[in-house]
Amino acid sequence: MASSPSYACIIILLSLSFSFSLVVTVTVTVTAREKQTFIVQVQQEAKPSIFPTHRHWYESSLPDKASIIHTYQTVFHGFSATLSHAEAQKLQSLSHVITLIPEHLRHLHTTRSPHFLGLNTADTAGLLKETDFGSDLVIGVIDTGISPESQSFNDRDLGLPPPNWKGQCVAGEHFPPTSCNRKLIGARYFCAGYEATNGKMNSTLEYRSPRDSDGHGTHTASIAAGRYVFPASTMGYAKGMAAGMAPKARLAVYKVCWNAGCYDSDILAAFDAAVADGVDVISLSVGGVVVPYHLDVIAVGAFGASEAGVFVSASAGNGGPGGLTVTNVAPWMTTVGAGSIDRDFPADVMLGNGRVIGGVSVYGGPGLTPGRLYPLLYAGSDGYSSSLCLEDSLDPKSVKGKIVVCERGVNSRAEKGQVVKKGGGVGMILTNGPFDGEGLVADCHVLPATSVGSAAGDEIRRYISLASPPTATIIFKGTRVGMMPAPKVASFSGRGPNPESAEILKPDVIAPGLNILGAWPNTVAPSGLASDSRRSDFNILSGTSMACPHVSGLGALLKAAHPDWSPAAIRSALVTTAYSVDKEGGPMVDESTGNVSSLFDYGAGHVDPQKAIHPGLIYDISTYDYVDFLCNSNYSTHNIRVITRKVAECSGAKRAGHAGNLNYPSLSAVFQQYGKHLMSTHFIRTVTNVGDPHSVYKVTIVPPPHTELTVEPDTLSFRRLGQKLNFLVSLQTMPVNLSPGSSTVRTGSIVWSDAKHTVTTPLLLTMHQPL
Ligand SMILES: *[C@@H]1O[C@H](CO)[C@@H](O)[C@H](O)[C@H]1NC(C)=O
Ligand SMILES: *[C@@H]1O[C@H](CO)[C@@H](O)[C@H](O)[C@H]1NC(C)=O
Ligand SMILES: *[C@@H]1O[C@H](CO)[C@@H](O)[C@H](O)[C@H]1NC(C)=O
Repeated sequence: MASSPSYACIIILLSLSFSFSLVVTVTVTVTAREKQTFIVQVQQEAKPSIFPTHRHWYESSLPDKASIIHTYQTVFHGFSATLSHAEAQKLQSLSHVITLIPEHLRHLHTTRSPHFLGLNTADTAGLLKETDFGSDLVIGVIDTGISPESQSFNDRDLGLPPPNWKGQCVAGEHFPPTSCNRKLIGARYFCAGYEATNGKMNSTLEYRSPRDSDGHGTHTASIAAGRYVFPASTMGYAKGMAAGMAPKARLAVYKVCWNAGCYDSDILAAFDAAVADGVDVISLSVGGVVVPYHLDVIAVGAFGASEAGVFVSASAGNGGPGGLTVTNVAPWMTTVGAGSIDRDFPADVMLGNGRVIGGVSVYGGPGLTPGRLYPLLYAGSDGYSSSLCLEDSLDPKSVKGKIVVCERGVNSRAEKGQVVKKGGGVGMILTNGPFDGEGLVADCHVLPATSVGSAAGDEIRRYISLASPPTATIIFKGTRVGMMPAPKVASFSGRGPNPESAEILKPDVIAPGLNILGAWPNTVAPSGLASDSRRSDFNILSGTSMACPHVSGLGALLKAAHPDWSPAAIRSALVTTAYSVDKEGGPMVDESTGNVSSLFDYGAGHVDPQKAIHPGLIYDISTYDYVDFLCNSNYSTHNIRVITRKVAECSGAKRAGHAGNLNYPSLSAVFQQYGKHLMSTHFIRTVTNVGDPHSVYKVTIVPPPHTELTVEPDTLSFRRLGQKLNFLVSLQTMPVNLSPGSSTVRTGSIVWSDAKHTVTTPLLLTMHQPL
């Protein structure tokens, strides 16, 4: 599970992004370096009447009123500002200031790597018809903006926006007010937080407007709600129909991610605006480090959104396959990991000794000469940087005319190809490191190139060291469908356990996130490289960034079918109907190892749109339940107030309660082993009937190995819709031999079924030996 190499890698990534931001800050101004952005929460109702607006009041508490970045009034009450340490301390001492949250920088959850999925419209056909394709619902996409010209956002046959819609189409650079239509009904951008830290943006490199200069936001928006476009393909790959999950749902985009990343103060402004505008769903393919919820602006913003009935779907992050890598873990968000689909893009390596090794690529230019073998070079034998093919690290004299082996890491995969091409190389073989395992991401390279797994990389390097001279070629085979097994858990998908709340199983579900076809701006190269002049209206990307909008679109369809469902009810429907087998009925495997995956990898499993619409029973959760959960998780009254904007009453009884009693649709028991005594716990759950008015559900218990699991009662008899019934789950087991500091997990499930519905609640048991 949590292996030490994975931690090392995370730390390197964090320190890299940290040093980048330092470099940027130094080039701005001296004051910017001394100051930092804080998000300030105030007691909104304490505003003295002499101030006409809250903003006037906030300004009066600061030495320089220009330091205010944004004010917030919907999901959060307060403002953000750049403050010196002394100013921050002074503000904190004011009686109406509840807290100051230091800003974090977030990043997009894409692996920037072409791969494919054509959405399986057959899977969703029934759901689409039942919901009129989600046409009255609005999905808010918090991302890099949008390219409004894309055919995926045409408004053919769409009626007026929903009557309660309050959003706007905010114009800006290369984004006139006419950019919106009946499909794209809202667009806003938030850059004040970005510019407070980085200085004014360079308008030749990005647009000060909702227009997307990156491609990520256009891609994710089209996955959630793109119209049917035929034919769609990129560089000749993945030809077919492109369609989002909810093709008639409306889109509102909130651009918060810029060239240097996505700043918390801007993200919170986007949540605030989206909820006030009246979105039904928020799609967030952005994240960062996991911190306690009261310090996590995404968790705070999402709480306010969820309280307003907005379903928030967020990406689990691309930190896998190591353990504890899942992000966006607050229990009021739906956390989405990534799975594969049954298509790939084979591009095999053939070595001079005749050995053929499988790889993948969506390179679409002129290929290598068929039948010819090219000299093969691994530049890593003479230094660290050349094995990674970093900028200026390759000597053209040795690279010219050769296929070069490059290792993954540090610079982007497409950039390595650019470096090889610049040195005169004819091709590239991109090899995974041990950390990446066998998970392959196909990219839209600028020269003939393919990606191979870690074991294949070792074999190729061994061949190079022994053969004289080593030679190879790459054979591109186009798009292949019907690949089994599928789905698999994508190598990079963020894994549990949940680093913040072990009692809450995260990710909740997985959805397609490997090789996803989506819309692309025709101003950006599909490789993302500035030097690449190729253009395409579609692109193939991978990441939990691509998985999240699938669930956002599904959330909109479920809400269209069941307008009275809460965000928790929508998640429950997705969780209890998810599957953990592949299409051939075998247990779902992990792409990185080929081994069977666990609940830490896929949560409840892969989403099943058709079943999620008729779940039978749901586990609902109210705002009060989340407050109890926070009390039971030992959050202080003060910190609970930061999250919920209300003074919570954590009575002694609640503090003594158990965080696992949140009415979550999955169960996670965590035992600390002290001594040799029998260990036991119990959970109370409440299910609401949303199936047939008169229905009788019987339980089937699948206990984890060596564990006693009971459910009382074993039958639930409902007499009406909306009726709620409780049951009690008890779990008992003996300690096992574990070395100090280590853990072991076991899994089981509780399945309720009537004649028509199967409601599966996954159960995870973690046993931990304290140090
Ligand atoms: C903006 O970026 C362009 C292209 O990289 C560069 O030539 C120009 O100097 C930059 N402008 C500023 C003000 O930094
Ligand atoms: C995968 O399974 C094999 C065989 O059971 C085992 O030896 C190996 O350690 C497993 N790999 C991982 C990463 O769990
Ligand atoms: C909260 O604190 C109590 C008492 O210190 C402890 O027994 C309990 O395990 C803690 N709960 C959580 C979820 O950390």
